[in-house]
Order: sequence, then structure tokens, then C-alpha cells
Amino acid sequence: MRVLSGIQPTGRFHWGNYFGAIRQYIALQQEDEAYYFIANLHALTTVRDPGQLRRNTLDAAMDLLALGLDPQRATLFVQSDVPEVSELMWLLMTGTPMGLLERCHAFKEKKARGLSADAGLFSYPVLMAADILAYDANWVPVGEDQIQHIEVCRDLAVSFNHSFGETFVLPQAKVLAASGKVPGTDGEKMSKSYNNTIEIFEDVKSMRKKIMRIVTDSRAMEEPKDPALDHLYQLYSLFAEPAACEEMAALYRRGGFGYGQIKKALADVAETYFAEARARREHFASNPDLVAQILADGACRARAKAGAVLARAQRACGVK
Ligand code: ADP
Ligand code: TRP
Repeated sequence: MRVLSGIQPTGRFHWGNYFGAIRQYIALQQEDEAYYFIANLHALTTVRDPGQLRRNTLDAAMDLLALGLDPQRATLFVQSDVPEVSELMWLLMTGTPMGLLERCHAFKEKKARGLSADAGLFSYPVLMAADILAYDANWVPVGEDQIQHIEVCRDLAVSFNHSFGETFVLPQAKVLAASGKVPGTDGEKMSKSYNNTIEIFEDVKSMRKKIMRIVTDSRAMEEPKDPALDHLYQLYSLFAEPAACEEMAALYRRGGFGYGQIKKALADVAETYFAEARARREHFASNPDLVAQILADGACRARAKAGAVLARAQRACGVK
């Protein structure tokens, strides 16, 4: 079974990205053949500064490697290094009903807010379909927000196969467990767009500062509290071992503690949790050639696969 997913390099990755997506990608590399890519062509729909996009792309690669993505097990590459995908996108575009894309949420939401959308944002799901179909992917691990796009991909594959004969493998979404659940510093969903993130590789001092500023309620210290309803506890439980979580939960139920104490415990456990990855991140940052080589090898493997699928699709529809 082949697993494939992409992540956009729109900024530095945060805890929500890690627990909601990246951690699962890394776990899946153990079981299956895995392709993971940095979706810089998708990011181009929002990041319009070339230097920034290049930096984000490289940072994303280093973050994933530091967090344990193993280039021996998984194929890691940059989306734009596989031009076959953009060619395949055109073949799919010609059979894509406008109405299908008009219903897609990224475009619909932008339009609803009265903003003008470009053709790139409009056809974003078709590029995503090409990303998936180009590698004969069976499973696509994604957060809930991407399920609609996988449905579009399946529709396009079915319709192409119907018109031109069996060409594409039908992929399935594998919805990630914690997607959409990690709270940010204000208690809402952690997201770059809400300015409430804590980055995975944020400088330790600044990370601790942000943790100390996490919004809490004003109930008295003595009052017993339900840990399940508290976002500080939710964050703590992402990092801590089960026994430590149990102890913390008991403390909540007993009451008589201050949130400062919990925040300090969270800062300590988060710092330890990412300590090894942080050291690996520094290693990659000081060896840019190594990272470039890993991405070049990944692109080479990815192109071989995408080239074969593109040729199959070209022959099927008569452009070859
Ligand atoms: P952001 O909301 O910060 O722009 P993205 O939309 O780029 O993040 O998210 C990339 C991936 O990380 C997606 O698969 C998404 O489901 C996951 N993710 C993002 N934020 C969270 C969160 N707060 N909790 C769980 N998963 C999240
Ligand atoms: N659109 C996805 C996101 O924003 C990223 C992405 C691009 C992707 N191409 C993909 C994910 C192909 C899975 C498969 O999160």
C-alpha cells in the first residue's frame, strides 16, 4: 500500500501541525511505502515573496527530517521538483466540471468574504488530485479539512477512467486522529491564521514565554476542575507520559493548584519532548548540502514514478 501526503510551506510548523499531521506521517513510514512532499506550488497561492517561499520550503524539509522523517524509508521531495505533476494537472483540468470546483471550500470561503480569488486557488484541488494520482497512491493521510479535496480527486480519477479506460488508482483518505484538535495559546484551534501558535522549533525562551501567557480561566485555586475541559491540560497530555497525565488529572480533580504550576510543567515536558529533534534540526541547518541531496534523491525517485503514470495518462487520452 502506498501512502502519500503533502504539507504546505506557508510558515514554520507548530504544535497543531505536529500532533495533527506530521507525527502520523512519520508513524506511517514504518508500515508502508510512503511519499511525502512539501507543497510549494500550493503555497504559492498565498506566499507571494520568492525569498520567503524558498526559505519556508527548506525549513519545512529540515523540520520534517529533524522530527524523524527517514529519507531511507520515505521519499521526501519538493512538489515543484516533479514537473510531471503539473502536466498531469492539465490533463485532469480538461475534464473538471467548473461546478465541482465552485463548491470547494478554500475558493468558496474566499469568495464569500468578498475577496477576489485567482485561477490558482480555484483549481487548487485539481493540482492536489494530480499530486495524488501521479504516484498511484492508495492512502492519503490528511486532516478533516482536506477530505473534500480527496473526494474531488476520486471524482476526477473515476471520470478520466470512464472516458479513457482504467488509468488511475482510486485513493482513499486516511483521516488523522487529532486533526483540528490541538488548542492554541488562546484556547481556540491552534492555527497560523489565529496568531495563537507555538512553533515546534521555537527558541526555548520564547516558547516558555508563550506558554506562560496561555489564556486560563479565573476560577479559584481551591476549586476542583475537570481536566478534560481544560486546554492547558489537553496540551500537557500531548507531551506527557500516561502516568504523568494521570497524576496531573488527579491534581485537577483535587483542586488547590495554580495554573502557573501547570504551565511550568507543560514548558518542561515540551522542552524535553522536542530536545532530540531540536539537536537534529541544528545538524541539518548546518549541513545544507545534506538536505539538498536528500531532496534531490527524493525528487529523482518521485519523478520516476510520476513519469510512468503521466505517460500512461497521456497514452490513454491520446496526446501520445
Ligand atoms: P494552519 O491552520 O496553521 O494554517 P495548516 O492548515 O497548514 O495549518 O495545517 C497543516 C496540517 O496540520 C493539516 O493537515 C491540519 O489538519 C493540521 N493541523 C493544523 N492545525 C492543527 C490543530 N490545531 N490541531 C490538529 N491538527 C492541525
Ligand atoms: N492541500 C493540502 C493542505 O493544505 C496540502 C496538499 C497538497 C496535499 N497536495 C496534497 C495533501 C496531496 C495530501 C495530498 O494541507
